Amino acid sequence: MTILIEADGAAAETFRFALGAEVVVTDSIPGAVRALEEAGRELLVVVGPDIELGAALQFAEDFRMQRPELGIVLLRRRVDVAMLGQALRSGVREVVSPEDLPGLGQACRRSLDVSRRMVGVNGQTEQHTGGRVVTVFAAKGGCGKTTIATNLAVALAERGRRSVCILDLDLEFGDVAIAMQLMPTRTIVDAVAMCGSMDETGVASLLTPHSPGVDCLLAPLEPGEASKIPVAVVTELLRTLRSMFDYVVIDSPPAFTEHVLAAFDVSDSYILLATLDIPALKNLRLTLDMLDMLGYPRESWHVVLNRSDSKVGLSVADVERTLRVPIAAQVPSSRSVSASINKGVPLVLDEPGHPVSNAIRGIALGRIAVQQTGAAGVLAQGKAKERRTLSFLRRGGAA
Ligand SMILES: Nc1ncnc2c1ncn2[C@@H]1O[C@H](COP(=O)(O)OP(=O)(O)OP(=O)(O)O)[C@@H](O)[C@H]1O
Ligand SMILES: [Mg+2]
Repeated sequence: MTILIEADGAAAETFRFALGAEVVVTDSIPGAVRALEEAGRELLVVVGPDIELGAALQFAEDFRMQRPELGIVLLRRRVDVAMLGQALRSGVREVVSPEDLPGLGQACRRSLDVSRRMVGVNGQTEQHTGGRVVTVFAAKGGCGKTTIATNLAVALAERGRRSVCILDLDLEFGDVAIAMQLMPTRTIVDAVAMCGSMDETGVASLLTPHSPGVDCLLAPLEPGEASKIPVAVVTELLRTLRSMFDYVVIDSPPAFTEHVLAAFDVSDSYILLATLDIPALKNLRLTLDMLDMLGYPRESWHVVLNRSDSKVGLSVADVERTLRVPIAAQVPSSRSVSASINKGVPLVLDEPGHPVSNAIRGIALGRIAVQQTGAAGVLAQGKAKERRTLSFLRRGGAA
């Protein structure tokens, strides 16, 4: 059931028609709060255009922490960027014009889709028994996604103690194969024919083995092949891979492609890369807003600062202030990283004692090492951060 907050009876009827679902209409925010308290299971509230903005955003803010699965769609006659930003930060999922009734219907369907994914059919949080899916993402290119993803996969495998698959979802320009010196015979393109009937045996035939515990599902050899891969292939692949491996690590392109969004939907953790430059931070802030808007729980996102010791006039504290989230881990800068990529051997294997390898192993094991950045405050905050981030990648806390 959807709750609609609208005092005008005629307008309420129009919106009710557009919403199509069973709708309870209330004329005020306190009325909606009462309805939510009584019913308990509602997944969507539509806030009418005449409800005062400040009160609507406060309502969204209050419920965002208490009931993250509850979607709030806001109707506004005028939408500007500042208001949109404010609304998204408060936890509103979408802002729609009251004139745009088809748009309202679509926004509500999208919000309900997200909410239903967050709760199981029985209202329980969805559980899965397979491995953990970890997406490494940055909306700006060159932040180090492939470097971190490949090294993280090797570190998680711990020389065969665990099984890890790295999926190269940079479908046009994937370079996991180069970074790991692999000659692919089969790639994700070969999964297309299996779509709809994928099973473990079929998917196993697409994998390229790398090192003990590490297998790779590589990106297409030609950029043009990316368009042949339906989004459904990614979802089905990830569900199958998760049943085969302890961890699936996804390397991604620097864009919110449909394939990336499908992977986000199946992921348990998101490693979001930041670097010490303003465009990367701006894009990361937008990414965080988007994850928030899509309702991915904040505990599942972890900001990792790559090249954290670069002397470029920005400190770690500046980054945390800009992003308004703590940095979960820092990976220092080193020329050995490029050398290892050129050599095709992940640094974690080639130089296990290197500070970059230690930092990435720290992420894999959940031991977030306090790096030698010299940034004031980081060392002091280290213990608290260590506790907060201790087990963000651990599987059932048992790794
Ligand atoms: N910690 C680091 N120290 C030094 N160099 C690094 C570090 N991390 C990444 N690099 C270098 O930065 C470049 C970009 O890294 P990488 O390819 O991993 O980024 P990416 O985010 O995958 O890029 P793209 O968006 O193009 O896929 C590479 O040359 C890599 O060697
Ligand atoms: Mg890359």
